[in-house]
Amino acid sequence: MTKEAKQVLVDMSVNLGGMKMQNPIAVASGTFGYGREYQDFVDISRIGAVIVKGTTLEERYGNLAPRIYETPAGMLNAIGLENPGIDVFLNDYLPSLSQDGVNVVANIAGNTVDEYALLSRKIDKHPGIAGIELNISCPNVKQGGMQFGTDPELVKQVVQAVKSETKLPVIPKLSPNVTDIVSIAKAARDGGADALSMINTLMGMAVDIERKRPVLGNIFGGLSGPAIKPVALRMIYQVYKEVDLPILGGGGIVNTRDALEFILVGASAVSIGTGNFVNPAIAEEIAQGLENYVIEQGLKGINELVGAAVL
Ligand SMILES: Cc1cc2nc3c(=O)[nH]c(=O)nc-3n(C[C@H](O)[C@H](O)[C@H](O)COP(=O)(O)O)c2cc1C
Repeated sequence: MTKEAKQVLVDMSVNLGGMKMQNPIAVASGTFGYGREYQDFVDISRIGAVIVKGTTLEERYGNLAPRIYETPAGMLNAIGLENPGIDVFLNDYLPSLSQDGVNVVANIAGNTVDEYALLSRKIDKHPGIAGIELNISCPNVKQGGMQFGTDPELVKQVVQAVKSETKLPVIPKLSPNVTDIVSIAKAARDGGADALSMINTLMGMAVDIERKRPVLGNIFGGLSGPAIKPVALRMIYQVYKEVDLPILGGGGIVNTRDALEFILVGASAVSIGTGNFVNPAIAEEIAQGLENYVIEQGLKGINELVGAAVL
């Protein structure tokens, strides 16, 4: 049998809470810009979903430099959500990306519950978006700067507010900086989430011993890359057992084996973040790697593997 003939026999498509993806590979928010930056390196139409850089209501300039720092098996970033604001994103950046026929997922961040709702209303009115990922790893200015994603009640409120403004699939992105990830996932479900994205970065820092100062301008930053993979796998495993929602899993995926580990602990789809910085074509390569694995295993489709390692 030719390779082409084999390929049509396996079903790599997945349904992430109502968003149909041709394959389970997404690129993670903040690591793929608005897609245009990668158009010369990767065939974007072969990616299941492009999750664009986090967007806020108003333009943001981000944190003081340095904003990134390489660590063993990962990196710290404290970009501070630099972005041009929702209107510029929808009117100027989105059109060229949606031309590629790929699922574009917006990633939104608000200072208040009302801001999340308003961002969602604007997105809902605009064609070209396939889903909304909620970055809830940001401070709630109305409650003393406590991160939305660390309080189950706030998580539920944000998800409910967004759901009341849009029919698009709503995918809260859970913060791993919590003691009990399952209670946060349940709160997101109770608010009406269509799927869960997990995990965002782990809070960390680095120290410059010559200057005797923190390295990052913001002092703290988010740790990503292979260093966080075991934490991400553990959390997805726990949530998959307790919460009946599709999971977009990610955190340190840099090859096909990593992606398979996430799927086996319960992720229906996977996101690739820091890996894009090392190899801009990684998403396409892993999509092909997963398809090869499904063929080699003699399976009908990728969905047969979801949660297969969960005891
Ligand atoms: C430079 C950088 C910028 C990021 N920006 C965002 C963002 O705007 N919104 C968001 O929800 N996550 C953001 N993230 C988190 C990633 O989307 C991803 O969840 C995280 O890095 C873990 O996956 P990884 O280990 O594959 O990178 C960012 C990560 C990095 C490294």
